[in-house]
Amino acid sequence: MRKVLYVMSFLMLTFVGVNKTQAQDIKFNDDWRFFNAEAEGAEKNSFDDSKWRNLNLPHDWAIEGPFSEEYNARCGGLPFHGTGWYRKNFKMEASAKGKVVRMEFEGAMYDAHIWVNGEFVGNRPYGYIGFEFDISNYLKYDGSDNVVAVRLRPQDLSSRWYPGAGLYRSVWLKIDNPVHVEQWGAYITTPTVSEKLGVVQNETTVVNTSNKDAKVVVKQEYFSPEGKLAASIEDEITVKANSKEVSGTYVNVKNPKIWDTENPSIYKAVTTVSKNGKVIDTYNSTFGIRAISFSTEGFFLNGKKIRFNGVCLHHDNGSLGSAVYKRADERKLQIMKSMGVNAIRTSHNPPSREFLEVCDELGLLVLDEAFDVWAEAKVPNGYNVFFNEWAERDIKDMVKRDRNHPSIIMWSTGNEIHEQHNKKEGWKVARMLSNYCKEVDPTRPTTLGMNNFEAPYKMNFAAQSDIAGINYKPTKYGYIHETYPQLALYGSETSSCTSSRGVYHLPIEKYTTHESLHVTSYDLIGPPWAYPPDVEFHFQEQNPNIMGEFIWTGFDYLGEPTPYGGKDNSTNGYWNGHWPSKSSYFGAVDLCGFPKDRFYLYQSQWTSKPMIHLLPHWNWKGMEGQDIPVYCYTNCDEAELFVNGKSMGKKVKGKDLTELIVKFSRYEGDSFQSKYRLSWNVPYQAGNIKVVGYKDGKQVLEKQINTAGKPAKVSLKVDRREINANGEDLAYVTVRIEDKNGNLCPNATNLVNFSVKGAGELVGVDNGNQISLESFQANHRKAFSGMCLAILKSSKTSGKITLTAKSKRLKSAVVVVETK
Ligand code: GAL
Repeated sequence: MRKVLYVMSFLMLTFVGVNKTQAQDIKFNDDWRFFNAEAEGAEKNSFDDSKWRNLNLPHDWAIEGPFSEEYNARCGGLPFHGTGWYRKNFKMEASAKGKVVRMEFEGAMYDAHIWVNGEFVGNRPYGYIGFEFDISNYLKYDGSDNVVAVRLRPQDLSSRWYPGAGLYRSVWLKIDNPVHVEQWGAYITTPTVSEKLGVVQNETTVVNTSNKDAKVVVKQEYFSPEGKLAASIEDEITVKANSKEVSGTYVNVKNPKIWDTENPSIYKAVTTVSKNGKVIDTYNSTFGIRAISFSTEGFFLNGKKIRFNGVCLHHDNGSLGSAVYKRADERKLQIMKSMGVNAIRTSHNPPSREFLEVCDELGLLVLDEAFDVWAEAKVPNGYNVFFNEWAERDIKDMVKRDRNHPSIIMWSTGNEIHEQHNKKEGWKVARMLSNYCKEVDPTRPTTLGMNNFEAPYKMNFAAQSDIAGINYKPTKYGYIHETYPQLALYGSETSSCTSSRGVYHLPIEKYTTHESLHVTSYDLIGPPWAYPPDVEFHFQEQNPNIMGEFIWTGFDYLGEPTPYGGKDNSTNGYWNGHWPSKSSYFGAVDLCGFPKDRFYLYQSQWTSKPMIHLLPHWNWKGMEGQDIPVYCYTNCDEAELFVNGKSMGKKVKGKDLTELIVKFSRYEGDSFQSKYRLSWNVPYQAGNIKVVGYKDGKQVLEKQINTAGKPAKVSLKVDRREINANGEDLAYVTVRIEDKNGNLCPNATNLVNFSVKGAGELVGVDNGNQISLESFQANHRKAFSGMCLAILKSSKTSGKITLTAKSKRLKSAVVVVETK
């Protein structure tokens, strides 16, 4: 966590001033120069970068495109590999001499090499982990220019999804006295938690880089969520010259505000280090007072059993790529919460700091995952290349960086690791990684996701982690539970159902691929290991000790366009067999953040506030008189369907079943009777369909879909009318093509042109269409199934952002966002 900010930037030159005694953290994101190719000598100060592009971080160069078949559809069909250089000039004031100056990168994608003033400072291959270097001795403090140069070299065939490329997370310059708190140095745990008492334990590591021993007082102050001082304690320690020392203390907090999924109460810790009565370092942290435990009976938060209504999420945010915007993560997670989600698996890598902050703030449980691969490759140039040299450092740093987040409940050492069926060595590596996590944080269990059956169980691999994650084997839950009774179990990856928002293929049939390169939204289709959500619901119900599930995935993501492109999960090469299919179909929500039908199927199972959803749309010109399957997803007891006012009958949830065509590996039979959806077959006639939901015999809700007329207007709806004028806040504008009565035109593909005026800019456009090759960074977008999205970013001056959306022959629309 951060301290003071103090920086001025003029014309590509940052002046770094230093307050005499206090330490400072300076966000170092502005005014970088960028070049997207090899550049000989670019690490040297004398190198002329005046022609390079000037930009601010966070930056993902690959999202700028263009999409091309030249690149791998498996990674989004975007140019994420190659060489990228970043350089930044800055001056240090003389007062900084004698201080410890560190540069921290919260993540650099991929294989970062760093030079300061022409001298090589260090490298860090793994793009998902943060790191810092002490650059004090490389700097000039005489008022002349310092230059930091960063070279990134993401490789082709190094990822199974879109990783992004660039300095995509924040960079910091940290100026400290020689005696200071180490990076990620305050470790806060809460060993005792009850309504009456919370014990807050703190082990803070203080570093001394000077040649003199230092006697210091480490003071911990804890502030309640309301900002009141809840407890404090002082500890005197001596930190030997060129060494470090831990200050370990604990305090009692009476009647603590306990962190849980409904009331995510966050405490703040302020650590100060003082010498001779003067504060020489201040270090801020946040944490939650909460207790977690596991057994073969389930997962417990503060003593209460909770089942995971979980989602796996990749780190990209659609049209923004992998560049980190806190608001993008916040919106994503709010949408997930509204689906009934209470847990997230950060598949398959450590997420950004901001992502975890939002999980803390929203009360989401997190499974923090380190790797997709160990030493045995999935793709030739993946992390396997670096595993032997870097795995210990990377996984320990992940745990050290993240261990104060109350949201995190497990450390995952990997996903579908090939070593799971390597008899001789697999279990040893699993144990080694699990032990690394425990060395740094013994308070949380370890886990990993296994897809193989039954090798990892038979070969002593599953037992090396505290909790066994099972990928795509719901029919085996019972068997595994009985055969390996010591294992605590959950579905680490489930369903993998695919769909394209608003697309319905009739008649309903089970296909592998469809000529449209879309997937029907009747929620049935997937790769051979996939099955509809209903099947998982059923087996979760049958096995109450399974801790719950993490669906693949909450949101669509860039890359991995299964069932198109690649044959299966292990193909090494390009996935361009069905170009331009290039982004995922797995999400319950599309790339824009617009819910697909599946979102409501989960919502009907995971939430209790009455909801009802109806599909498909009701625009089937030319199919008059033919039967259309109509599905209803609801948590009501009963639902009644009306077509143009005429009842098609009531259906009872749990009693009236919907037959689904189901075929997947390890499942016998080819149909499944689902009690989770209600359905009718009704002959099409234009007009409307309406469903009415009943609870305890009373009508509580209804949902109507009208046959839409011709597109007549553009309509805009912004998620927030007021945002921060901080240069990073976002407003998401949903664009709909509507008929004259305000009905969504479900098949509209009209091109919408955007123009923006005032205190912000347009940073992304999208429509969720997995086969669109339109740029994410244009000022126009075609609608897909009647909708598209525009994302606005504030500037650093407050004012108004006005977005105008125009489309040929349609009435245009304007939306205004205030920035403060
Ligand atoms: C799993 C894998 C995920 C994703 C998914 C698609 O086997 O762990 O990363 O590829 O399949 O269904």
